[in-house]
Amino acid sequence: MTNAPRTAPPDMGESPAAGESIEAWRDALAARKTVAETANVPGALASRPDMEASRRTFIRGSFLGGLGLALLGSVGLLVDYLYPRGVRGFGGPVPAGKVSEYAKGGEPKHFLDGQFFLANLDPSDAGKNGTGGGEGLLALWHKCPHLGCTVPWRKEFDYEGTKGWFRCPCHGSTYTKAGIRIFGPAPRSMDTMKIEVDGAGNIVVQTGVREFGGPNNPQRAIKVPGLPS
Ligand code: FES
Repeated sequence: MTNAPRTAPPDMGESPAAGESIEAWRDALAARKTVAETANVPGALASRPDMEASRRTFIRGSFLGGLGLALLGSVGLLVDYLYPRGVRGFGGPVPAGKVSEYAKGGEPKHFLDGQFFLANLDPSDAGKNGTGGGEGLLALWHKCPHLGCTVPWRKEFDYEGTKGWFRCPCHGSTYTKAGIRIFGPAPRSMDTMKIEVDGAGNIVVQTGVREFGGPNNPQRAIKVPGLPS
């Protein structure tokens, strides 16, 4: 019995050349099996599924956290934008002088920045353009209830033989000194605004607190101490 010479194992990936020993190939293949199937898997490798789960949890948490922060920021910006602060002019309180400056039955004073007229109504003014029995201070929004044109007080405008009206330049709606509509397409009388007077007689009109005009406009006038009589 002769032992066949064992040739050197071939490099991996090569096919056995003709004449090479089968044993040499077996040895080479056995040498590649470095881990027995029954061997314990090293701890570092055994924990890979947990590490993968932790990584996914971290990524999901980071994403949700970022999304929450973005939403919180958006809500904060919206609240900051909508929060009223330091409103001046129309939409906020507008000073309108002292009560002593308003003669009873005098012409309405126009406050362009606050978009209103202010007058001290005389209840004895019973003309067609009069006060309807109203007495005291009344603030009227100068915006026409029809399509929003600015309504001027026209002292010389004559309507049916009487001078002195609020007269809209757009479509002719005509209002008395108390803002009562007596002619034109406007759907209602002129809107009114809230008036505040402090102890020293200073008037402030709250231009953001408005009420639709109506037949009771004259009754919305307020009597305050210090008004000329
Ligand atoms: S907008 Fe004043 S009557 Fe039309």
